[in-house]
Amino acid sequence: MKKIRLGIFFGGRSSEHEISIRSAKSIIKGLDKTKYDIVLVGVDKSGRFYFGEKAISLNMPQASQMLEDLRKNTSTELASVSAGLPERVDENISGAIDVVFPVFHGPFGEDGTIQGLLQSFNVPYVGAGILGSAIGMDKDVTKRLLRDAGIPSARHLTFYHHESDSIKYDEVTSTLGDIVFVKPANLGSSVGISKVKSKNDFEEAVKTAFLYDNKIIVEEFIKGREIECSVLGNEYPEASIPGEIIIRHDFYSYSAKYLDDNGADLKIPADLPIEISDKIRKMAVRVFKILACDGMARIDFFVKDNFEIFLNEINTIPGFTEEVSMYPKLWEASGIPYEELLDRLINLAISRTKRNNELLH
Ligand SMILES: Nc1ncnc2c1ncn2[C@@H]1O[C@H](COP(=O)(O)OP(=O)(O)O)[C@@H](O)[C@H]1O
Ligand SMILES: [Mg+2]
Repeated sequence: MKKIRLGIFFGGRSSEHEISIRSAKSIIKGLDKTKYDIVLVGVDKSGRFYFGEKAISLNMPQASQMLEDLRKNTSTELASVSAGLPERVDENISGAIDVVFPVFHGPFGEDGTIQGLLQSFNVPYVGAGILGSAIGMDKDVTKRLLRDAGIPSARHLTFYHHESDSIKYDEVTSTLGDIVFVKPANLGSSVGISKVKSKNDFEEAVKTAFLYDNKIIVEEFIKGREIECSVLGNEYPEASIPGEIIIRHDFYSYSAKYLDDNGADLKIPADLPIEISDKIRKMAVRVFKILACDGMARIDFFVKDNFEIFLNEINTIPGFTEEVSMYPKLWEASGIPYEELLDRLINLAISRTKRNNELLH
């Protein structure tokens, strides 16, 4: 059987650059090399694309450290393409890569931008399409669509940078309660997020969030356990068993996620009554469909003591390390091992493109 040339796109301009490299490294390691030739496409923090060997040698110090040992698995086909754009970008991408796994987290990769580029070149890619990616990245739009569909999530207010002066702590807390979360609308990994309990903290938190996005949201505090569910599929998505993140910090901050090895534990499966677990799985599939997802998504919930369920957020390219990331670990526990999960995602990408190519344009 002919091997599939799989492009692993990683790195990227967002502040989740390093996390993306970790996920990419794990995916490359987990792939069945008898089925795939891997073409690395690394994007540095300034947004330049490097193909093949260049991705692990040029301007990507973290990548070169972490991916050095993978050199032998790398197709050198594109190695001659140096920094800057080749003469015919479309030929270089669509001619050399059969399908892409975009392993970007955050803006400029998880948000529909790369998906749009790949779609223009008619190259199949893993995960949500342009619309689902863009919706999933924007916490404000996500929550508005869910509200419309009757799915509960924390109440929120939205503010734009140009109206910063009109953001009033007293008004916000009288609507949302004394404790609020301030977040950039489009980001992930808890970057730029603050839990706020006072007016001073609030002003700082708003400034911080605006460093990362021109749109921010302020959310009411939901006191609950953090339960996550993985969804896989295109037209007929399925949900994994739910897992719980048990957090040892005030909230699941960047440092609890990535800096403190003991910041949080994953409990798989989550310790929940079966009917609640089933309800979460059903809700996860509904959310996946409402938000126009394809391929995969990790859907994150808060569950209160009385088992009321609130959607927190959705990740269309969730963390993907085999050892620690919830998305693949939940599938592993639900009967789909890592290597098979990768195969399935790649097949879903190919079948979606086939179907789309049958449409009249
Ligand atoms: N409304 C909320 N109530 C309680 N905790 C929250 C709320 N919003 C966020 N958090 C905490 O902050 C973490 C990060 O927020 P989240 O919206 O998931 O952002 P990210 O996309 O960066 O993961 C959550 O995992 C949770 O611990
Ligand atoms: Mg989150």
